[in-house]
Amino acid sequence: MLWFFMAVREIKKYPDPILKKKALPVKNIDGAIQRLIDDMLDTMYSAPGIGLAAPQVGESKRIIVVDVSAREEGRPLIILINPELIKAEGKVESEEGCLSVPGYVSKIHRAERVFVKGLDREGRPVEIEADGLLARALQHEIDHLNGILFIDRMSPIKREFFKKRYLRRLKAKV
Ligand code: NI
Repeated sequence: MLWFFMAVREIKKYPDPILKKKALPVKNIDGAIQRLIDDMLDTMYSAPGIGLAAPQVGESKRIIVVDVSAREEGRPLIILINPELIKAEGKVESEEGCLSVPGYVSKIHRAERVFVKGLDREGRPVEIEADGLLARALQHEIDHLNGILFIDRMSPIKREFFKKRYLRRLKAKV
């Protein structure tokens, strides 16, 4: 059974300080990076989630994985190292959540279409044009690399409400 070879990592939860840090670019795509990517995939699929950024598993590195195929058929798995948002067009509002902010969703404005560049896991340049949920997921994960969570994109009033409720619930759990 493949299960025994899986490496599911602990997902860092808000307000863990690593989630606020700007992640560093990957310089060498070596074995350690390959293992990190494998761990990120195992962690994302077992959560289950549609995307994950390296800081969410405690690694301040510019790597994201996105797989929205469960909700948008035919979309491929995307693994991006040092991703860059080159172009963003249009504006849409839709519900969003995050594995690092469990139990909360909020309507968030995002660009409708994006053009993203980066490297695949072999270090080859990739260009992605996306819309729909894939565009949203890419923006959400690239935000993580810049220390931005979806709650940072809520209106200040909504964010204050959220923080109070979330932190109260966090305290209740301890
Ligand atoms: Ni997230």
